[in-house]
Amino acid sequence: MKMKLIKGMRLVAATHNAGKAREIHALLDGHYTVVTAAELNLPEPAETEGTFVGNAMLKARTAAAFSGEVCLADDSGLSVAALDGAPGIFSARWAGPDRDFGMAMSKIEARLDELGARDRTAWFTSALAVAWPDGPCVVVDGRVDGVVTFPARGDRGFGYDPIFIPDGHDQTFGEMDPDRKDAMSHRARAFDRLKAALID
Ligand code: IMP
Repeated sequence: MKMKLIKGMRLVAATHNAGKAREIHALLDGHYTVVTAAELNLPEPAETEGTFVGNAMLKARTAAAFSGEVCLADDSGLSVAALDGAPGIFSARWAGPDRDFGMAMSKIEARLDELGARDRTAWFTSALAVAWPDGPCVVVDGRVDGVVTFPARGDRGFGYDPIFIPDGHDQTFGEMDPDRKDAMSHRARAFDRLKAALID
């Protein structure tokens, strides 16, 4: 079978996260009809794998099996060097069941303070997987490097955006125009690789 994404086709974005869904819509340039797993009432699998790539494949494959459609999943998160890469794949889980990212960002600050760590180096990672219902799955990843800063600044993004400043910039992702974030983010870089692999 030819594993390509054909313009105009319908893609299921295997996410229940509104911030990610908005970025996936923007990054696909309106060339695809995107519906989300939340809109289709698909179940959210437990993220049992130990890597972003593994969890992205798990989410895409689960959604493809339930929907019978081509599914795209993102597994992503923020890694802080001085915290040995935490929260990393646990980024969503650090925010608890109420998805309280104010709390999750405070937890990062508190852990850095406890350690007396001055190094603020951090990076976002996004793994993107596309799964076909009959089996094949393609996965890529992308990363953006920067630093974490406190207090949090800006309310334009989602998740950890208000504490992340990408290298070479002064604004946090939370302060930045969404188009600027979409031009340089981990997700945008992963999408570039995905497009190179799957779009003619
Ligand atoms: P998961 O991929 O569903 O496990 O969730 C990843 C979590 O990482 C999200 O809920 C966000 O908190 C965080 N995250 C991933 N990408 C971004 C981003 O672009 N900005 C801010 N936070 C992000």
